[in-house]
Parts: sequence; C-alpha cells; structure tokens
Amino acid sequence: MAKTALLTGITGQDGSYLAEFLLARGYEVHGIIRRASTFNTGRLEHIYADPHSGRARLFLHYGDLSDASALARLIAKIRPEEVYNLAAQSHVRVSFDSPEYTTDVTATGAVRLLEAIREVGLPVRYYQASSSEMFGKVREVPQTETTPFYPRSPYGCAKVYAYWITVNYRESYGVHASNGILFNHESPRRGETFVTRKITRAVAHILAGLQDKLYLGNLDAKRDWGYAKEYVEAMWLMLQQEQPDDYIIATNETHSIREFLDAAFGAVNLDWKRHVEIDPRYYRPAEVDLLIGDYGKARRQLGWEPKTKFADLVKLMVDADIQLLKDHREGKIKVTA
Ligand code: NAP
Ligand code: GDD
Repeated sequence: MAKTALLTGITGQDGSYLAEFLLARGYEVHGIIRRASTFNTGRLEHIYADPHSGRARLFLHYGDLSDASALARLIAKIRPEEVYNLAAQSHVRVSFDSPEYTTDVTATGAVRLLEAIREVGLPVRYYQASSSEMFGKVREVPQTETTPFYPRSPYGCAKVYAYWITVNYRESYGVHASNGILFNHESPRRGETFVTRKITRAVAHILAGLQDKLYLGNLDAKRDWGYAKEYVEAMWLMLQQEQPDDYIIATNETHSIREFLDAAFGAVNLDWKRHVEIDPRYYRPAEVDLLIGDYGKARRQLGWEPKTKFADLVKLMVDADIQLLKDHREGKIKVTA
C-alpha cells in the first residue's frame, strides 16, 4: 500500500526535490501552497507537465503556516503517514527586517503543525527542517548534534524554537518527530537572493553581456555547502527509522564566499574582481562567520553521505544558469534541472 506524505514548503527548493523523490518511490504526495498574487509553482511545473512523472499522485492544497485551523483540517482530511515541515520565512537577512513575521511562520508555524498532528491522534511521522543557522556564533568546530546553539538572527532564534518544540512533542506525546539539522544546500533551484544562486546567475548574465557588476556583502563568511537533491533523501531516511532522532546533514567541508566566486567565475574564465563590488546593504547586523558540520551520525545510523563535491556543485549551478538564460532568450519554457 502506497504511503501518503504531506509537505509544507513544496514550492521551495527542497520541497520540489522531495516531492520528486517521494513520487519516484510511489508515494501519494500532498503539498500546501500559499495563494500568491504572482505565479509561485514554477519548481513543480515539470511534474505536472509530464504525465509519467507522478502527476496523478501529486495534490496541492491552499494553506499557510500562520493558519492553524487550515492545517488541522488538512491533516484530518489527508491523514498522511509522513509530514515534512519545510515551509519557513527562510531568508536570514530578511528576518532582521521582519522578525515578528519570521517568528510567526518559522517558529510558531511548527507548533501549529505539531498540535494538528497531536490532535488528530494518528501515528504521523514528522520531519522538522532545522538549520545550521542555530549554531550561529559557533561554540565548537566542526558542529555536531551536541554542539550548543547560539543563534545570530531572528531566523536562527525561530529555528531554535522549532527544533526544541519538535523534541518536546517527541518526549511529551511520543510523536515520531525528527530534526534534520541541515547545513547550506544549493542547486539550480535555489532561490535567486541566496548568495550562491545570486553569483551563478550573475555569471551567466555577465558572460552574455547583459550585466557588468555584481553587488555583494560580506565575502569572508564560510559555509558548508552541499547539493540539495542529495539532502532530501536524508529527510526521508530519518522518517524510515524505528526511533525518531536528530541528525546533522552536511559535507564536513567549508568554503568562503570568495572561494565560491573563484570557482563560479573561474568556470567560465572570468575574473570576479573585475565585476564584484561591495554594497554594505547586504551586510547583516550580526553575522555567522563559520559553519562546518560533522555528519558522522547520519553516516553511521542512516547510511547517508554527501556525493557532490564543492567544485562540481558550483559548476553544475553555473552551467544550469547559462542554459536557463539561453532557453529564456530563445523563448523556450524554463527548464528545471
Ligand atoms: P525556500 O526555497 O525559501 O522555500 C520556502 C518554502 O516555504 C516555500 O515553498 C514558501 O512558499 C514556503 N512558505 C513561506 N512562508 C510560508 C507560510 N507562511 N506558509 C506556508 N508556506 C510558506 O527554502 P528551502 O531552501 O527549500 O528550505 C526548506 C526549509 O529548510 C526551510 O524551512 C529552510 O528554512 C530550511 N533550511 C534550508 C537550508 C538551505 O540551505 N536551503 C538549510 C537549513 C534549513 P512560497 O513559494 O509561497 O514562498
Ligand atoms: N544572501 C546574500 N546576498 N548573502 C550574502 C551576500 C548577498 O549579496 N553577500 C554576502 N553574503 C553572505 C551572507 O552574509 C552569509 O554570510 C552568506 O553569504 C550566505 O548567505 P545566504 O546565501 O543568504 O545563506 P545563509 O547562510 O544566510 O542562510 C541559508 O542557509 C541556512 C543554513 O545555514 C538559508 O538557506 C537558510 O534558510 C538556512 O537555514
């Protein structure tokens, strides 16, 4: 009997890869989408367009993490075996401008969903999209599942709440609830205002002569960057374990924004120093300087390991943005890699 999964954040980077992953395993997939004034299902379009890709098993419902009654109604109606809470106001810089909204969606949204699960009384397995941002001003290098949190943004604080409320529902009510503490993960589907995609998109535009300058903030921050397509499998593996638990998902490698620029511009023989300028508006009131995650527990208990190396990830994102721009200029439908 095929399993049923409910995803929040299905229109986002991870949501679209996870939906594909679950459909390929025969799941019936339900996703919660927000009504927006502009089109926001572009990352799912190819699943709808291809009749062999699982279209008949993908269902979208309107809802919002700020709307508890809608969440409860959807859980009771869909009766999913697995719930993946991927929705969030996920932009760290934006969270400084909208701290209360970020808390409402990213923190309180998680408890709204967990309450809906508790009240329906079904054996639902729950995945919480926790974040390496919780480590913030890091207390330990590399970070592990036992490293203390020190969040540095309203987003990081909201994710710390969501992490602990997930642990609390596991311990208080026996919910099969797990936290995936994912370090930065990127792909051609990454939102265009996150630094990696902002860079690879600019490389394509500069190469085509459509743009000359790229304005960035702090180039010294270091991140542990992996490939999003591989990270969604780890989410699924967590919910297949007999016991719920919390896991770091990372590559155990760290690189600065400068190194990302070297790799991205270098891939097409451009010199980033001729194009990049610093705009202080992109600095954050408090920065997370260094993230690097030890995924040893996930390797031992889930059998999960990252495969794509940093240089290959940068190259595949640059290539995808060059292709996307070419298709766009030729009037072709957007290709989602
Ligand atoms: P993303 O591309 O920014 O997607 C965020 C998703 O959340 C979108 O589908 C968005 O819908 C939805 N959303 C936002 N506000 C909502 C609300 N009020 N109600 C319902 N849905 C709402 O994020 P991502 O990169 O895929 O990341 C997925 C999750 O993992 C997020 O929770 C993020 O914080 C977390 N995370 C990400 C990373 C990373 O490096 N990518 C690392 C650690 C943790 P719209 O399309 O309508 O905006
Ligand atoms: N976005 C952005 N734009 N970041 C810039 C820029 C710029 O122009 N210039 C420099 N940066 C620096 C930021 O200051 C930060 O140190 C780093 O690039 C990465 O920024 P983002 O790509 O926005 O990602 P993030 O690390 O803040 O947050 C992402 O990863 C988290 C996991 O650690 C998001 O996906 C979060 O949702 C996720 O939880």
